[in-house]
Amino acid sequence: MLPHLTTLIPGPRSLALAAKLRRHESRNVTFLADDFPIFWQRAEGVNVWDADGNRFLDLTSAFGVSGLGHTNAAVRAALVAQSGELLHAMGDVHPTELKAELCARLSALTYERWGAGDGKTVLSSSGSDAVETALKTALLRTGKAGVIAFTGGYHGLGLGALSAIGLPYFREPFRAQLKDFATLLPYPAERGGLPGGLRGQIEETIRAGGIGCVLVEPVQGRGGCVVPPREFLPMLREVCDTHGMLLIADEIYTGFNRTGALFACEHSGVVPDLICLGKALTGGFPLSACVGRAEVMDAWPESSGEALHTSTFLGNPLGCAMALASLAQHDDPALAAHVRERGAKLRAALAALRSPHLGEIRGLGLMLGVELIERTEDCRGSCQLPQSPDHPPGESGRFPYSRPATALAIAIIKHALRDGLLLLADSPTSNVLSFTPPFAISDDEIAFTAARLQEYLTLLPGSIS
Ligand SMILES: Cc1ncc(COP(=O)(O)O)c(C=O)c1O
Repeated sequence: MLPHLTTLIPGPRSLALAAKLRRHESRNVTFLADDFPIFWQRAEGVNVWDADGNRFLDLTSAFGVSGLGHTNAAVRAALVAQSGELLHAMGDVHPTELKAELCARLSALTYERWGAGDGKTVLSSSGSDAVETALKTALLRTGKAGVIAFTGGYHGLGLGALSAIGLPYFREPFRAQLKDFATLLPYPAERGGLPGGLRGQIEETIRAGGIGCVLVEPVQGRGGCVVPPREFLPMLREVCDTHGMLLIADEIYTGFNRTGALFACEHSGVVPDLICLGKALTGGFPLSACVGRAEVMDAWPESSGEALHTSTFLGNPLGCAMALASLAQHDDPALAAHVRERGAKLRAALAALRSPHLGEIRGLGLMLGVELIERTEDCRGSCQLPQSPDHPPGESGRFPYSRPATALAIAIIKHALRDGLLLLADSPTSNVLSFTPPFAISDDEIAFTAARLQEYLTLLPGSIS
């Protein structure tokens, strides 16, 4: 047993709440086990406290939402002030000044900042909603319903977004309710460079007809923190320009400085036609946005009194107020530089870990992944790369002759929880520990995290091959 492991997490209150959930929440939602989860009570900065009073270091920013820190003072002040004024308005009928202000700010931070004219926005509630708005826009603009998307891609679980995601686990049980408008092509990983045949595959898909857009994450998050080669997005831009298709950047995870640039597409200087935003946009309110070049968004007909695409909570004033307070902080180039510096520190600490189970350490800024593998016998030249729809070769990491160490990843997440570290795993095989902490993570917190990880990698059962 690791010396500092405590049996008090989850504590009695969390266990009682788990029992309540087991009885009253649909059983597919929250993973409930004897040693998981804890129930969040409050949070501040990089820390979270659970219902039993235990403090945790959040290495996840709660799915990438809280980069500016939990309960960020300015965002909270905006929420508190707004809550005394107006909780809800009529988003597409009689809206608020805040909605107009937010649409203008989103334009200023994207298309105007990129020197591409005005941007226009459709607001919505979830990331999945924003992606579906983008897909509808592409159909209206091009008249073509087909979408090129990528293996390992995650775009949300609404039936439209689900049709375009590259993680079969989420899609397959609902195939009968989905329309086959997406063609999935392999997402290239940085280490291999741009595969020679990929452009050909894209061209061939386009030649088959009906493709109106390419939907892509500039860095895949849920797919396992996969950074593509630098030429990938520029190549997609060129293909879209050549064929009159739209390039949709899904920056719901990568947006707002997470990768060390305000938006991840800026690393390769590519301006997408549409950008999908969510998560960190507000730092904690379900509000998302599809922002597009004005002439692209003008494919939508002018409202004649009945909006073609809207929702009850569109442009909710609480969310808009929080987003404006959050954007005011993101619009500071020093923040991107800070994330790059913190990211380099965390990456160096992760790269110094020693274990035969370490595969690739990858990512950008404070969006980092540590791949855990079981190395198989050295069969170089004589055995096949592991290939399956769930584990395509592009994601198999630095050591192709290996299996994903999923059980080790899960054991590490559970041990980390009991040591006060909140950690998640991504990738189709859940073997990539993902590190997306709040931007204020300190040197000491990085050192603590790395020391614990080294201990797990050395001491956990199954960690020595
Ligand atoms: C890249 C990306 N797109 C879309 C989504 C879906 O967002 P939501 O869960 O808010 O629907 C996610 C969520 O993780 C995401 O990472």
